[in-house]
Amino acid sequence: MNRKQRRALGRSGAKPGMGLAGTPANSATLAELVAAAAAQHQAGALSEAERRYRHILSLFPNHAETHSRLGAVLMAQNNASEAAARTELALELKPDLFEGYGNLAQAYMAMGKPEPAIQALSRALEINETEQVKDLFTRYLKDTRFTADKNGRLRRWALRALLQGWARPRELTAACISLIRLNPVVNDGIARADAAWPARLPAAELLGEAGAAALAEDDLLCRLLERDPLTDIGLERFLAGVRSAMLTVASGGAEAAGARELEFYSAIAHQCYVNEYVYALTESDAARAGELKSALTVKIKAGEPIPVLWPIAVAAYFPLHGVPGAASLRSQSRRQSWPPCVEALLVQQIEEPAEEQRLAAAISVLAGIDGEVSRAVRQQYEESPYPRWVISGAPAQSPTAERDDRAPAPAPDVLIAGCGTGLSTIELARQLRHARILAIDLSVSSLSYAKRMAQQLGLAIEFAQADIMKLDSIGREFDFIDASGVLHHMADPWAGWRILLSLLRPGGTMQIGLYSDAARRNVVAARALIAERGYRAIAEDIRRCREDIAAAEEPLLKSLTQGPDFFTMSECRDLLFHVQEHRITLPEIKSFVAAQNLTFAGFILDAATLRRFAARFPGRAALTNLDRWHAFEAEAPNTFAGMYQFQVQKPARRP
Ligand SMILES: C[S@@+](CC[C@H](N)C(=O)[O-])C[C@H]1O[C@@H](n2cnc3c(N)ncnc32)[C@H](O)[C@@H]1O
Repeated sequence: MNRKQRRALGRSGAKPGMGLAGTPANSATLAELVAAAAAQHQAGALSEAERRYRHILSLFPNHAETHSRLGAVLMAQNNASEAAARTELALELKPDLFEGYGNLAQAYMAMGKPEPAIQALSRALEINETEQVKDLFTRYLKDTRFTADKNGRLRRWALRALLQGWARPRELTAACISLIRLNPVVNDGIARADAAWPARLPAAELLGEAGAAALAEDDLLCRLLERDPLTDIGLERFLAGVRSAMLTVASGGAEAAGARELEFYSAIAHQCYVNEYVYALTESDAARAGELKSALTVKIKAGEPIPVLWPIAVAAYFPLHGVPGAASLRSQSRRQSWPPCVEALLVQQIEEPAEEQRLAAAISVLAGIDGEVSRAVRQQYEESPYPRWVISGAPAQSPTAERDDRAPAPAPDVLIAGCGTGLSTIELARQLRHARILAIDLSVSSLSYAKRMAQQLGLAIEFAQADIMKLDSIGREFDFIDASGVLHHMADPWAGWRILLSLLRPGGTMQIGLYSDAARRNVVAARALIAERGYRAIAEDIRRCREDIAAAEEPLLKSLTQGPDFFTMSECRDLLFHVQEHRITLPEIKSFVAAQNLTFAGFILDAATLRRFAARFPGRAALTNLDRWHAFEAEAPNTFAGMYQFQVQKPARRP
């Protein structure tokens, strides 16, 4: 802040504790004045609180807390730039003023400056790691792409957020990748891989002098690789090259240099398993990987010692549970002990899928499967469960301002209709520990993944196979029903929605996620390309299709590489190759809501979109006005790129 700005804020250079006229001020008076202003502030009388804080500052121009509080009041009145300047001044006066950093971050965010917002929150975390700051940090991180990280402070906090599960890894991935790209070893490697693509570079050229060992030093990269699909085409190309280099080392019979390097290669194998081997594969790599898999099979059968890099390299190309005899790799009788990183791969790729198969046999059928479409959709999700995830985030939280009023009643009966692999179900169950949750889906492989994860977290959720179209036969009622990303895959989404409504208690809430017609023009373009090139929903064609899209100049097609679903096989199939997909408009939703006598309770959207909407259509009532949202979407068709996600309420029974 320069001197002029400081003067404009009233910091006149008077000594602390001196009034403007230079009269000594008395500290009891200051405390009283602050308390009175704070009372107005707390009561929501913002203009009066502002007037009082300004008055205090005219008497005590160096009172840091009052500058900070004035900043908060200004922020509450949408005056972000003065709020930021006030708070900066407060922090200059008192650098350990904890609450100042949160306020400053909010002001920066409202000004569209996420990087300094995250800087401010990192400072707050260093002072006091509260749940509130952690929550703000992860929410803001989602929309931040870093261009610098002095002293590695941001990287340290991002890594901590990832390791401690402050949010779903997927929400942190893009920000973490921007930090990883600040590592010159990675960034130079990406540039080299990108420039050569689709040709692959020899390891020495790809990795430069530093080699794989330098990549192994990047903790954030390694931990992210283990936790969630990486959603960046450049990084993907680079990692595909590194995977190929690892295969060369393993096939040549040489051992990887050290424990760190092995860990790094194992992290790549974790990543490839999680993304279901979605990376483009050259013919020669496919052949070499196949040969290594056969050689591994022979050694397993013969009970011979196995080079430690072999199971890692094979696991980066095929799931280990598909390697004949691989189940014996962990058995005591083999007398070969593995480093922890290989043990972890054996758990991920052999034990966990085996456990899911055991659980699948015990999943009950609550209602049969009805019709051709449901059967085809079931088949797709049996082969390609959705979503792919390893670690859930913090307990679910809806980002709408009004969510508290609409939260389900205590000890509610909850139905998750079309729970998939259970990510949202599990986050909800962690939030509503006392709720009775029934989660249904068509796909047993999805349900068994969800069940294994729920068991791991000690959550009692009832999982069952059922078709929504048959749920009216189960004779149960619910206070809260979720159907996110499900109804648009039914033969008649409106019929499915009506059935779910028949299970909702009067006064109950339903959360729906539906594809927006306006936001999916890119998917329509991709489906046209898929039809033209005759691609089928099989791994080989999905890889080809992804390559075409990544290489496309056409912005609509190219935009698909920005969404997370592009980066795993199942999710890409879900995104572009679905056997049944309806795209919906807001007028259609509006007429359904009216016909069913429902109350539209609002969209679940990020804060920035809600702010833009409020600037275009001010007032609380506009938030639930679907005509206003329709007009807003016409102006900004990507508003609902992540679906229309909203809640509706059923009228309470008349007394
Ligand atoms: C895109 S996934 C969404 C999963 C989950 N709701 C989420 O948001 O992560 C769609 C899921 O809906 C399920 N589904 C589709 N039609 C269904 C139906 N008629 N009855 C039950 N489940 C259905 C599919 O099997 C699939 O697991």
